[in-house]
Amino acid sequence: MKRIIFSGVQPSGNLHLGNLLGAINPWVNLVNTSSNENDFIFCIVDLHAHTVPQDPKLLREKILETSAIYLAAGIDPKKAHVFIQSENHDHSYLAWLFDCVTPYGWMTRMTQFKDKSAKQAEGTTVGLFNYPILMAADILLYDTTHVPVGEDQKQHVELARDIAEKFNHTYGDTFVLPEPQIGKENARIKSLQNPAKKMSKSENDPLGTVNLLDTPDEIVKKIKRAVTDSGTQVETGYDPEGGISNLLDIYAASTGKTKTEAVGELTWLQYGAFKEKVAEAVVAKLKPIQDRYREIRNDEGYLMSILDDGRDFSIGKSGKKIEQVKEKMGIGRVG
Ligand code: TRP
Repeated sequence: MKRIIFSGVQPSGNLHLGNLLGAINPWVNLVNTSSNENDFIFCIVDLHAHTVPQDPKLLREKILETSAIYLAAGIDPKKAHVFIQSENHDHSYLAWLFDCVTPYGWMTRMTQFKDKSAKQAEGTTVGLFNYPILMAADILLYDTTHVPVGEDQKQHVELARDIAEKFNHTYGDTFVLPEPQIGKENARIKSLQNPAKKMSKSENDPLGTVNLLDTPDEIVKKIKRAVTDSGTQVETGYDPEGGISNLLDIYAASTGKTKTEAVGELTWLQYGAFKEKVAEAVVAKLKPIQDRYREIRNDEGYLMSILDDGRDFSIGKSGKKIEQVKEKMGIGRVG
């Protein structure tokens, strides 16, 4: 059966090694190993980015940067559609209609909102609360069957499914019920400074995160300063939640080896020599992506044409869905 695979990425902040090894790489593999009948749609969700305050100039830059990094990392635009969410107005349009279908009680259960609003306190906007509804619109507009996301987004995909079910029940069959596709085997890279936490765009300590556009010197410096376990050399009995384990994961994912292979290769190395190996592997992994990234950014015409094609494809598809929705809900005029 034909699959439609949709996922979104926020253009806020710098993309980092955790994004590459945990999300972008698995997507690239998914696209490259998929049969041709499937559709892949990757959306740069700039409307979602505004759930926290944004610098307008920087956001515009990040939208292009993020799109170019996806292509540079190997998303093949002949096999996948890449577009910018705000360029297709159907997303925010359908989000409003879903606002009117979704019970408030469902929304109050969203754990990510609870965590984020607790941190943002007075700064919390209605947009942050509504964020999963816009995400449901993103997904459901395209008859998406599979949504590859991290564990933290599973509840949002399930909400999209519930909204689709409720809509179908109320107005008749309209939306396909999507499934979250959680890459259990995807690398989960932790902060270099705090291995209890995910590597993250919003981390305060810049030494914790390797950004995809960092120079080799920056990468080496950050990995040299990474937190280790309490010993002096890599041991087979490393702490599975500790800094050494995280560096082993980074090495394995950067070289395409399994963790067991990485352990076999690197145990008994002193921490200093071990970190040099890890840094070397990361630099080697990022170099071709960075080179390709620069080529793409120096050829704006190429990037624009891919984003134009992505936009046209998305509008063509979502427009038909919106027509069905309007008819079922009785809004606008007939014909
Ligand atoms: N909420 C997702 C995140 O922060 C991004 C996103 C927006 C998304 N719309 C989506 C992911 C649709 C998958 C499908 O990671």
